[in-house]
Amino acid sequence: MNDPGNPDTPNEETPEDAQDLDKPIELIHKSVLPYHPRVGDVLDLNVDLSVGVVLGRSDSFHRKYGSVGLGMIGGVAETSDDVLTSLMGMPVNLDLMSPHVMLVAGKRGSGKSYTLGIIAEELALAMERREIEVAAVLVDTVDVFRQMVDPNDDQSDLLKKWSYEARGFPVNVYIPRRTYVGLPDEVKKKARLFPLSIGPKELTVSDWGYVLEKGGTLSTAMENLISETLDSVRKGYSIDSGERISLKRDFSIKDMIQCIDTSPSIEELYKPSTRTAMIQRLKRADRMGVFHPGGTSAQDLAIAGQITVIDVAPLGSDAEAVLAILTNMLCRQVLTYRMAWTDEGTSAREELPPTWLIIDEAHTLVPRAGPTPAKDAIIGYAKLGRRFGCSLVLCTQQPSAVSDEAISQADLIISHSLSHDNDIRALQQRAPAVLPDQFRDKVFISSLPRGAAIVFDQTTENKRGFIMQVRPRLSQHGGTDRLSGLFEAVKLLIPDDIEEVEIIDIPEEADEAEDTVVDEPVVEDEMEGEPELEETSEDLPEVPRPPLKLSKDDWQVLDGWMRDYVQELFEEEKQEFSITDEPAPRSEEPVEEPSLTEVEIVPVLDPKINASEVLVKQFGPVSKELLSKATTRKILYSKASHRYLFTSENDYRETISVDRQGTDPIVVINWVADSINSGGLDLDQLIHEDGFTFVCFRSEGIRVVFSIGTSGILVSAPVVVVGVDRRLVAAVADRIRNALHNPD
Ligand SMILES: Nc1ncnc2c1ncn2[C@@H]1O[C@H](COP(=O)(O)OP(=O)(O)OP(=O)(O)O)[C@@H](O)[C@H]1O
Ligand SMILES: [Mg+2]
Repeated sequence: MNDPGNPDTPNEETPEDAQDLDKPIELIHKSVLPYHPRVGDVLDLNVDLSVGVVLGRSDSFHRKYGSVGLGMIGGVAETSDDVLTSLMGMPVNLDLMSPHVMLVAGKRGSGKSYTLGIIAEELALAMERREIEVAAVLVDTVDVFRQMVDPNDDQSDLLKKWSYEARGFPVNVYIPRRTYVGLPDEVKKKARLFPLSIGPKELTVSDWGYVLEKGGTLSTAMENLISETLDSVRKGYSIDSGERISLKRDFSIKDMIQCIDTSPSIEELYKPSTRTAMIQRLKRADRMGVFHPGGTSAQDLAIAGQITVIDVAPLGSDAEAVLAILTNMLCRQVLTYRMAWTDEGTSAREELPPTWLIIDEAHTLVPRAGPTPAKDAIIGYAKLGRRFGCSLVLCTQQPSAVSDEAISQADLIISHSLSHDNDIRALQQRAPAVLPDQFRDKVFISSLPRGAAIVFDQTTENKRGFIMQVRPRLSQHGGTDRLSGLFEAVKLLIPDDIEEVEIIDIPEEADEAEDTVVDEPVVEDEMEGEPELEETSEDLPEVPRPPLKLSKDDWQVLDGWMRDYVQELFEEEKQEFSITDEPAPRSEEPVEEPSLTEVEIVPVLDPKINASEVLVKQFGPVSKELLSKATTRKILYSKASHRYLFTSENDYRETISVDRQGTDPIVVINWVADSINSGGLDLDQLIHEDGFTFVCFRSEGIRVVFSIGTSGILVSAPVVVVGVDRRLVAAVADRIRNALHNPD
């Protein structure tokens, strides 16, 4: 771990040791960042010289954790007129330790999904380094993340330029159960495939609407029928022979069809045409091969230390509805279990780790207009997830088409190229940082090349968006491998004749249409010929579970539907729960604490500097430019010197670089201090922090700070002049420059 409290150790250290300390990081070379526009507005980001730009973390948080729990996602790709403040080439690191809501936006082919892959890779790497322990679930409708198991050999040249090597990651890939069953065992093993299913009991009446009817709306009669069917299957019902079909906590679509076929009360209430139409639709849903008792649960998907990809691409046009239902279940279950705990040591919260839910093509699941089975749950997750340690990454080509309630929660936005005015406007409105005028220009934003993006971070100090080039992927992106072909082949193996059966629309009050429909030869043999799926619809013996607790605070922030869901879930699981006054144990979430770095402020009475009291910061072997930049940044960003220098929003600043080669640092300190004195300023105080000393001077309306760093024979002692009156700042800076050039 990088400890910012330790000064750099000089070069006699072994190279390995030296690497661990806060040696300034090497910049990414311009040749690797071919697109790097010049941006006029000054860029102040949170920078740690040993790692680069830090996103999503406050300064104090970063001081506590250093380089731990950061993921390198790209490099700053913009230049500035001011070499001193330019961050061009700085690696960009994303905080993976605390929960975030992120939006990744961009038009078709701009590199969004690729960027999601980068986030997943960095989560996996940080987990390999044992810096974090989370679950990451990537939901994928278009088959782009499954190949994370393979190395990115296609871009090996690009990776080499970035000094990376291609590699795969052991992600678990859940594919629809039907596709899974049809694949050879060695393929399943090699591609780390698992069967994905949803227990029909998880679906509400309105969820069934989405599955059974394109567009999601069932006729009233059909809706009543599905509701009654679910009720009967859950509670049990008697058939004509007097036999009682007992209740099923877990049931299959076949159980539902059997109920519609045999329940006298359903027969009495619903026309044969309605029942037939419903059975047809249920059979079609069954053929998707994902609705199955004992469905995949959130606990299967969200596993600590594991990246899980849910790949529903093989479902084709049904992928969206299935994914929405699954995401709904996942969001609610993760939130609920993360919220609850028990006294018995087996914490409900431990059943589900802090989870990163990463959703590609989010506009289909959380659209601005209209409902989907997942919309409320995703919005709830966006609003509450962070409270329970959970993160959300939404990706979309149309930010304007995503629910504002979800986007407004974003603390980080990565926007690739956008071309529609609506989308640019949506970004502008929702960006958690300032969008410089230059970036607002439609031509600018629509011509960002692939992989380049504007990044906005709520925690950065001056809150301006900046241009980043996303790093190349280590693992393969996109699903154009042999397996995609196999998925198709498996689809063909399964008799799909149900598609050819006309699904009959039932007019609400259709009277005599029944006869024609009843004769349709649709229901008998369709289920034959499909792979035998083992049934697991028997209820498992119940294991008593310890009572759960939910804190009153947490309970109060839940929306009504979420409270109902929690109640229902625990009733179904036969698990008692209570709302208590006790605070929820949240120990695993990193809590922000004040800086650990010792800051010592020493007022100075003697106007003449005692150079021996000034610490000279030792850097490793770096270039003159980087040494100067590093020292300047330290003056600008260290909390204590920042506080000393900047007292209002309207402060102007000038920076004077002072670089010497082979001069004794003591000589440089005296020379710079004397020059500042002759500029009309008095020595005020010394601030010792982090191996640096910030030497502070002041006069009416002006503050000046310098500090000194060295790297072998190179010495740098930049001077920063700050004040509200721009002309005064410029005049004082000029006087100091003159004095520096003409020492007496
Ligand atoms: N940062 C990058 N570095 C190198 N290549 C990239 C980068 N980003 C994207 N690409 C290339 O661009 C292609 C398209 O990227 P991606 O699939 O992420 O686009 P998308 O924005 O998700 O598009 P769609 O809207 O169609 O889903 C990728 O297959 C990859 O080859
Ligand atoms: Mg994509």
